Amino acid sequence: MKQDYAVRIDPVLAAGLDRTKAAADVCRARQTLEHGSGPGAASTGWLELPARIEPELDRLEEVAADLRRHEAVVVVGIGGSYLGARAVIEAFAAPFDPAPKVLFAGHHLDARYHRALLERLSGADYAVNVISKSGTTTEPGCAFRFLWDDLGRRGDRELASRVVATTDRARGALRELADAHGLRSFEVPDDVGGRFSVLTAVGLLPVAVAGIDIRALLAGARGMMERLRDPAADSPDTNPALAYAAFRLAAFRAGKRVEVLSTTAPHLGCLAEWWKQLFGESEGKGGQGLFPAALSLTTDLHSLGQWMQDGPRIVVETALDVVWEQPLAIPAMEGDRDGLGHLAGRTVHDVNRIALAATLEAHRDGGVPCCRLEIDRLDASHLGALLYFFEYACGVSAYALGVNPFDQPGVEAYKKNMHRLLG
Ligand code: PA5
Repeated sequence: MKQDYAVRIDPVLAAGLDRTKAAADVCRARQTLEHGSGPGAASTGWLELPARIEPELDRLEEVAADLRRHEAVVVVGIGGSYLGARAVIEAFAAPFDPAPKVLFAGHHLDARYHRALLERLSGADYAVNVISKSGTTTEPGCAFRFLWDDLGRRGDRELASRVVATTDRARGALRELADAHGLRSFEVPDDVGGRFSVLTAVGLLPVAVAGIDIRALLAGARGMMERLRDPAADSPDTNPALAYAAFRLAAFRAGKRVEVLSTTAPHLGCLAEWWKQLFGESEGKGGQGLFPAALSLTTDLHSLGQWMQDGPRIVVETALDVVWEQPLAIPAMEGDRDGLGHLAGRTVHDVNRIALAATLEAHRDGGVPCCRLEIDRLDASHLGALLYFFEYACGVSAYALGVNPFDQPGVEAYKKNMHRLLG
């Protein structure tokens, strides 16, 4: 399938980075990923997912259609068990939807949110998709208890028909609970870690419940998989993931410590959150890794723009540029009191893209090397391609830094302390 997708690393925008040495290193890192010869190789099942998940799609769609009959579906999960689904759902959500089909819980411990959720669900016809690979994570465990308690009051049959578990195939508390109560369930594959699981039932079930075409999402991911894994695509010139990984590696070696992902639409905010987790948890080990941060343009130009332009020069910027968006022309206004009369008749998306180009140029001039990721449009297929692109680039990039992309030993430190403090 045709992928209208490009990574533009304009040498002028990326000025100041030596990408030649980095290019050779990311090519070697790609071999490590492809040959399964690096640390964590047992967790690289996601590489094949767009093709491998196919046989599960009928059942996923069937269960999603059943869940959609309910007024709302609460998706309970955190980190990799939540961010991917939310990123996709929010990318396509109507901005002013007063009653979204999918609600999220289990991604924090805020009391006010949980109370409001229970009030919103009180007496409502709702279902739950609880997602946890380990089945022992505190935040979803806490949120799920409220919902389980609420549905439990409605009787055992309600629990069995309204709760769907996505968890490990054989192990863990959630698997035991699902088996004990005859809940419908989906598996998180053994060889796919949380933050690489968006193209499994972890992401696909909630996404399908939201009415998004998961087959198109996977078709896009598959097209990208074939493109990036093509043996002939073995250099940054022919493989956009290698180009992006080389940009990041060169940036880190040049002393940059922060990578900002700039998006140009509020509905892409959660995609940036997913990206932050993907790179942050995969690379931030042993003193390595760019700190992933995000800007939502043009909103944040009026808050963080000053820092970007003139703060410590430890930052690089990656901008997601969506070429096509629905045309919406800006109307003329009588007089020209604000001096913005020249906007009349231009589409707002056109102005948005010009703002992005102007921003990158300004940041480059301010000493921020920039990389532009261009996608032709934002639909399910292009988003699927983008998700796979980031995953692949992340695997390569982490190996190029010499870290295991697939573990997260640092996350245990706070958990250990919390369990101690909770007694
Ligand atoms: O990427 C990861 O592995 C983590 O972010 C996990 O997804 C997150 O901690 C949730 O874990 P679990 O699915 O076991 O509840």
